[in-house]
Amino acid sequence: MPSAPAVLIVTLDGPAGVGKSTLAARLAGELGIAFLDTGAMFRAAAYTLGEGAWDWSQGIVQQKLGEFEFTLRGSGKNTELLLGGQPLPQEIRSERVGLWASQLAVVPSVRAYMKMAQIFLGQTTSLVAEGRDMGTVVFPGATHKFFLDADPEERARRRCRQLEAQGKPADFAKIAENIRQRDDQDRNRSIAPLKPAPDAVLVDTTHITEGEVLETVLRVVRGG
Ligand code: DC
Repeated sequence: MPSAPAVLIVTLDGPAGVGKSTLAARLAGELGIAFLDTGAMFRAAAYTLGEGAWDWSQGIVQQKLGEFEFTLRGSGKNTELLLGGQPLPQEIRSERVGLWASQLAVVPSVRAYMKMAQIFLGQTTSLVAEGRDMGTVVFPGATHKFFLDADPEERARRRCRQLEAQGKPADFAKIAENIRQRDDQDRNRSIAPLKPAPDAVLVDTTHITEGEVLETVLRVVRGG
């Protein structure tokens, strides 16, 4: 019997505002595979369950998440992540929901559910998977692993530029504070904290363009 074609998994981890989502979409396009924005999964859960869900009992959270079903459609920049067959609402992208997601992400039953759902998606679909714990916890056997980092100030500036490009108000001080708070929560939680996998390639994006980051990563993926 012919063996099933191997699934390619490339992991991109790093802090908020480092440029993972843009890179994931472009890299997936170059490789002709889908990308998985795992932050969007946490954001969708936080938005659907609402503020304060991180204080609910583990049993209730588990029961609510049991009703969730994430699926992927398409590839490259046209990849769509669906929840219950529906596209995720734009509201999940707000700074407020980002902070909720970071708070919800410390809850053990939430992490367990997300890990299971992400592994399930990666069993049948080649992926560029981006998040905080892709290379360390969810896909420890990934084909290639990258950890992106950049100065917090530069990340806040990029986030401001992104919001301004969308015609939205951008308050640098507030965004920098939000990034600081999320960095602190994401790096210091006890389960699956943000850190590079021992075998990840580290890329500091502070002083290089998006195009240069893509080239660096592609060189490793294609050469390896
Ligand atoms: O990547 P993002 O900013 O959209 O993620 C939102 C929050 O979700 C982030 O602050 C922490 C959490 N998250 C996580 O804990 N693990 C992941 N793999 C992805 C996101």
